[in-house]
Amino acid sequence: MAWIEEKTITLAGDRPVVIRTARPADARALRDFQLRVFADSEYMIHRPQEYQRSVRDEKRILRAKYESPNQLYLAAESGGAMVALLTSRVDLRQRVSHTIFMGLAVDREWRGQRLGEALMRLFIGWAQSVEDLRRIELNVTDGNAAALRLYKKLGFQEEGRRQGAICFGHEDYRDDIIMCRHLQRQIKPLADPAALDLESEHGP
Ligand SMILES: CC(C)(COP(=O)(O)OP(=O)(O)OC[C@H]1O[C@@H](n2cnc3c(N)ncnc32)[C@H](O)[C@@H]1OP(=O)(O)O)[C@@H](O)C(=O)NCCC(=O)NCCS
Repeated sequence: MAWIEEKTITLAGDRPVVIRTARPADARALRDFQLRVFADSEYMIHRPQEYQRSVRDEKRILRAKYESPNQLYLAAESGGAMVALLTSRVDLRQRVSHTIFMGLAVDREWRGQRLGEALMRLFIGWAQSVEDLRRIELNVTDGNAAALRLYKKLGFQEEGRRQGAICFGHEDYRDDIIMCRHLQRQIKPLADPAALDLESEHGP
C-alpha cells in the first residue's frame, strides 16, 4: 500500500494545510476539485465538459492507487476542503514500470505559496523510497511559467518536445514539453576510497 505520513504545513497568512495520501473517501471532493481546476486554469488539457468520471469511478481509481505499492495520490486540504492534488500513474508493463508519471494542480486561491513545491517534495521523497521506481516523468505546456519554474527547481530536466501538440484555440499551437527527474539511488560507499587512486590516474 502506498502512503505517506500526514504532514501539516503553514502557508502565508498562517493558513495550515494538511498534506496526506488521498483515500477512496475523497472521491467526491477530488472530482469537484478537478472540475474546478479544469475550468479556471489556462494550461490544463482537460476541458470541464470532457471530464466524464463519476464519483464511483474516482472511488475505484483511488482504491486501486491506495492498494498499489508504487502509485500515490496526494491531497492537500484546509478547513475540510481540497486545495491541491498530486496524481500519479505507472504503466504496469514490466519493461516501462520504473517510470511514474505525475500531474499537479493547486486551487487558484492557493497558488504561489509553495504548496505545489511542498507536495512535490513529499512525492519525490516517497518515490525515492520505492525500490522499483527510477524516473518521475511529467508533461508541461510551453509557456506555463509557474509550472516550469517549479519543476526545474526540483531537478526536472527537459527530455523532449512534442511540437505544436497542444492547441488552445484557432491556430494557437503550443509545444508539449516532456520533463523527467531521475531518482538517485544510494551508492554503497567505498570501503577504502584511497584504493581508487584517482590522483595518479588523472594527475599531471
Ligand atoms: C503550476 C502550479 C501547480 C504551481 O503550484 P504553486 O503552489 O502555485 O507553486 P509554488 O508556489 O510552489 O512555486 C511556483 C514557482 O513559480 C513561480 N511563479 C509563479 N507564477 C509565475 C509566473 N507567472 N511566471 C514565472 N514564475 C512564476 C513562483 O515564484 C515559484 O518560484 P520560486 O519558488 O522560485 O519563487 C499551480 O500554479 C497550478 O496549479 N497551476 C494550474 C494547473 C497547472 O498548470 N498545473 C501544472 C500542469 S503541468
